[in-house]
Parts: sequence; structure tokens; C-alpha cells
Amino acid sequence: MLSKKMLNILNDQVAKEVYASHLYLSMASWAEDQGFDGVSAWFYAQSEEEREHMLKFVRYINERGGHAVVPRVDQPPAEFPGIKEAFEAALEHEKMVSGAINDIVELSLKEKDYATNNWIQWFVAEQREEEDSVQGILDKLELLGKQGLYVFDRDIMSMRGQD
Ligand code: FEO
Repeated sequence: MLSKKMLNILNDQVAKEVYASHLYLSMASWAEDQGFDGVSAWFYAQSEEEREHMLKFVRYINERGGHAVVPRVDQPPAEFPGIKEAFEAALEHEKMVSGAINDIVELSLKEKDYATNNWIQWFVAEQREEEDSVQGILDKLELLGKQGLYVFDRDIMSMRGQD
């Protein structure tokens, strides 16, 4: 059985994962509209992944005797200044999510809820991978500069499936 505090923080995380899915969906739509099909495909896939994260939280909460609440979702930005800025925003968002996951780890230790501590470790590893993946894309963009965006857009299509 989850404590009230644990239930609340896990439900907050459901909302964060849904928002992440919406944010990446918005980035995918924006990139598609700009003609960047590779970038768009990357963000569509990322949006799906975030939805899967959300479902993991929903199922875990319910499995442990809580009630996962489906939240209202804020509207994410619809426009982005550029490809690099979109990935910078994605990295900032992932860092925020990593912090939220760490808060769950901390609470699980404080409450001696070792089942949740064990379960949340998957997300600890996932966040490290996601931050690393977005940072890798930003490093690549830095190397290419503006002239290489077309090549980058094709290249990024093969970058899925490595995580
Ligand atoms: Fe599910 Fe990328 O946070």
C-alpha cells in the first residue's frame, strides 16, 4: 500500500509524463510543418515513449492499491525558435524530470518503501539515457552548424532504436 505522500508524488509524475508527451508531440508537429521530417519523426517517437512512461506510472499506482488520476494537460508551446532551441528545451525538460524522479527515490528511502525504490530505478536509468541522448544530438548540432541541418535531419532518422 502506498502512503498518501507517495501516492501524491506518483500522481504528480503521471502529470509530468503526460506533459512531456504533449511537449514532444508539439515539437514533432512544429518540425513537420517546417519540413524537417527526421527531427519530426524523432519527436513523434519520443512523444510515444513519454506516453508509455505515463502508463507505467498509472499501472504501478493502481497495482499498489492507489488510484492513478488522469490529469488535465497544459498546452505546450506551439512555436520554437529553431531546431537547436527545441532540443535545448527538450534537454531542460528532461533535467527537470530527472529531478522529479530523484525526489521519488528520496521519498521511497525516507519511507522505507523499498518496492517503490526498486521499481523507480528503471526510470533513474531511463532519465540518464534520455539526457545523454538529447545532449548527444545537441553536440552533433553544434558540430554541424546551420549548413549541415539538412544532413542532420536525415541522419537523426537512424538515431532511434539506440535507446
Ligand atoms: Fe519520461 Fe523523458 O521523461
